[in-house]
Amino acid sequence: MHKKEIEQTLVLIKPDALKNSLTGYVLSQLSEFHTGLRFAGAKIVHVSRMLAEEHYAEHRGKVFYPSLIEYIMGLLHYPDAPERRRVIALVYQGQDAVKKMRDICGPTNPHVAREKKPGCIRALGTVVPLKDAEGNDIGERMDNLIHASAANDEAEREIKLWFRPGDFSPFMRSYITEVNKEDHYYFREGRLYIKHEPGSVCLIAPGDVVWKSDFDTLRSLKQGLPAASSLAAVAAKYLINYTAEN
Ligand code: GTP
Ligand code: MG
Repeated sequence: MHKKEIEQTLVLIKPDALKNSLTGYVLSQLSEFHTGLRFAGAKIVHVSRMLAEEHYAEHRGKVFYPSLIEYIMGLLHYPDAPERRRVIALVYQGQDAVKKMRDICGPTNPHVAREKKPGCIRALGTVVPLKDAEGNDIGERMDNLIHASAANDEAEREIKLWFRPGDFSPFMRSYITEVNKEDHYYFREGRLYIKHEPGSVCLIAPGDVVWKSDFDTLRSLKQGLPAASSLAAVAAKYLINYTAEN
């Protein structure tokens, strides 16, 4: 973050909160009146598998990971209604934004939240038993209504994963941006292209304002050099709400 006085954090209102009509209640709890934090960005997102997997990359390989991905994609709460699968992605800013949002969300496990922090948002969540194909218990899933970034570096990674600079007012961009003065960058099936290929999507064009860190990654990948993050981590946000399939 280059403007020290502004701290930002990513909040996701998850599919179970939408399904249970808790959106208004949650937004009220997060409001400036309660938290002293202000909106910096907001969008309704149909979560692609690529975005879900990047967001929860740290949990890859854990027993609850497949159900976590299906949960955030809305597949579990809306198996037969793809048009209702969405999360509300929000960026809040202000002093101690990360800590304040984590506090109001409460502990990850809703059972623990009810016991240790009555009144927090996750105290309204549920814990769902998980079974394998044979019906054996293999753990549980935590439907905890809301996500909030856990630390400043995570907030930066997550905000840049879900939001483009142009999603913010120019006064509310906390991370360094750059204007693309060079190539077009296209994406198709996990690969980067500099020229349009049939079926490819243009991620950025000359003149676009981009996060500098994304631009650095694309430039390195173009030259075949190691990059600070994966192509998927850059491309996922450009594909947000692009089509139903991505
Ligand atoms: P998020 O705000 O969603 O990132 O939750 P968190 O920061 O409180 O927890 P963490 O990032 O460690 O985990 C992300 C999500 O994975 C949680 O919201 C849970 O749904 C799930 N999860 C994390 N740890 C466990 C676990 O030990 N068991 C199960 N079943 N689910 C877990
Ligand atoms: Mg987390």
